[in-house]
Amino acid sequence: MAELIAALDFSQPEDLLACARRLSGTLTWCKVGLEAFVKSGPALLHELDAMGFSIFLDLKFHDIPNTVAAAVRSACRTKAKLVTIHTQGGEAMCRAAMAAAAEEGEERPLIFGVTVLTSFASGAMPGISKSPGDFAMELAGLADAWGLDGVVCSGHEAAAIKAATHLKVLCPGIRPKGAATDDQARVMTPARAVASGADFLVVGRPITRAGDPALAAQAILDDMATVTQ
Ligand code: C5P
Repeated sequence: MAELIAALDFSQPEDLLACARRLSGTLTWCKVGLEAFVKSGPALLHELDAMGFSIFLDLKFHDIPNTVAAAVRSACRTKAKLVTIHTQGGEAMCRAAMAAAAEEGEERPLIFGVTVLTSFASGAMPGISKSPGDFAMELAGLADAWGLDGVVCSGHEAAAIKAATHLKVLCPGIRPKGAATDDQARVMTPARAVASGADFLVVGRPITRAGDPALAAQAILDDMATVTQ
């Protein structure tokens, strides 16, 4: 069964932890991204770990290989179980990230490569004439060859990537039926993303901005459970 990850995109740590507390009986995975990490740093991850969460640290590293390898080494010390880099950083950067993670042995976090951000509509990627779907497929093939554990992609590419590679797939841009799309361009319902083979779904605002985040998360879990994988 796919895992649901709540994206705890809050800049104030007290707001993030309050939301995490409300979700703790319902979900096991949460995501900390740039907004929260730049403000609060690794201490926040230790608090979420102490609350029993499995942590997805989504900082999308994209830099020269040496810098990314060092950042991955630091990320490995934060208790994160899943860490992202940008596949567009290229082969040397991706292989350096995997080598740095491997130094941690069995306890290492999974390293996933972002393919194309789900906020990009066709024609909006600077310097890229391919469609977001085609470009994501190409990057996923490379990520597989370079030894990454998985990729981040829209639900629209999940099935094709699962069929063509050994990668695990994590999908943002998930919206329950009728929910606002916000700034996401290529969205998909939870059930459809699970049916497409996604291993992880990451959902932010439909959970964090709900009056009752646990109820919103449970409704998404119920939708996911309508699909037998
Ligand atoms: O609020 P929403 O459900 O749109 O949040 C989606 C989360 O997934 C955000 O935290 C965003 O940073 C992340 N994400 C994304 N697209 C990617 C990679 C990560 O939306 N390609």
